[in-house]
Amino acid sequence: MTSSKDFWQAAALVKDLKRRPARVEFGGEPVVLFKSASGISALADRCPHRLMELSKGKVVRGEIECPYHGWRFDGGGRCTAIPGHMGDVPGYRIPGLKTFVKDGVVFLSKGDPAGEPYLHPMEGRKTVVRLVRSSTNSTLIDAAENILDATHTHFTHKGLLRGLSSKRHRVRVDITGGPGWVEAVYTGEDRQHGLISRLLEAGRVRTVGRYRFPGVAELEYWGENGLALATTFHLRQAADGLVEGIGCLIGPNEGLLDRVKSWMFQPMFRIALEQDRRVLKSSLENAARFPDARPLIGPLDYLRRDIEAIEKGELPGAAQSPRTAYIEL
Ligand code: FES
Ligand SMILES: [Fe+2]
Repeated sequence: MTSSKDFWQAAALVKDLKRRPARVEFGGEPVVLFKSASGISALADRCPHRLMELSKGKVVRGEIECPYHGWRFDGGGRCTAIPGHMGDVPGYRIPGLKTFVKDGVVFLSKGDPAGEPYLHPMEGRKTVVRLVRSSTNSTLIDAAENILDATHTHFTHKGLLRGLSSKRHRVRVDITGGPGWVEAVYTGEDRQHGLISRLLEAGRVRTVGRYRFPGVAELEYWGENGLALATTFHLRQAADGLVEGIGCLIGPNEGLLDRVKSWMFQPMFRIALEQDRRVLKSSLENAARFPDARPLIGPLDYLRRDIEAIEKGELPGAAQSPRTAYIEL
C-alpha cells in the first residue's frame, strides 16, 4: 500500500457544480468536473486539440464544450462534435477518472478502488451533516496532525474549543493503530469549557482522533449515549504547499434540537478552520525562511511519526506497539 491511486478521495462538493464546470487539482494534475448525462464526470482538464482548459468552457446538454474551437466531449471523454467538420467525428478521447457521489461529496479515483468511499463514522444512521470546503497553505501531514493535535486548542482556539481559564485536567491517551490507520483515544477528560463544548455536549466520555490513509483526519466525541458529534476531514495535497480539504461535521439527527445545534455549530467550525489556516500558513512560510531547520517532534506529538509512516505506506509504530500516555489537557 504505497499509492493512493486505488483509493477514493474527496475532491469537490456537488453543490459547487451547478451549471459551470470546475477545475480541481487531483493527483498532481488538473481535472475538470462537470454534470454530464451520466452524472458527475471527471476528465483530464485539457482539450486534446490545443490543450485548452476545458474547465473554461461550458456544459451543453450534458457535454463539455471547449471554449477555443467548440469541440465537445461526453461524460466518458469521447469527442462527440467538431463544429464545421462534415462527416464522422474521429474517435478522439480524453482520459477520465472514476467518480462516486456520496451524500453531496464527489469522490475521485485514478485507479480501481474496491467498494464505496468512506465518508464519515456515522454513515447509515440518522444524521445531520454539514459540509465545508477549505484550502490551506500547508502539507498533508501538517494539516492532518493539526486537526488531531489536542495541545494547540488551548492557544490557537482559546475560548472557542477550550475555556479561557488555564485549568487543565489529567487525561489518559491510548494510541493504537493498524495497516493504514492510527488513533488516539482520550479518556478522563472533564467536560471542556470552550463555547462549542458548552453548546453541544452533555458529559463527554472519550474523544478519539484518528488518521486513515490516504488523507482522512477525524475527531469523534463520545458521550454516555454513544457517538455525539464527529468531524471528518478529507485532505489532499492539491499542489506544492497547498492542501485541499472537505470537512464533514456530523451529529445525530433525532429532532429539531439536533438540527439547530448543527446549524449553530457551523459558523464556529468555520472560525476554528480559519484559526488553523492562519497558523499552518504562517509556519509553512516561516519554515521556508529556515530551509535547514527540521520540525521537532515533541513529547506530546503522539501521532506525527505514525502519520508519516502511514503516508509512506509503512505500518505505523502504534500497530506493533500500542502505547499509553498521560497528558494535562
Ligand atoms: S483547443 Fe479545444 S477545440 Fe480547439
Ligand atoms: Fe485546530
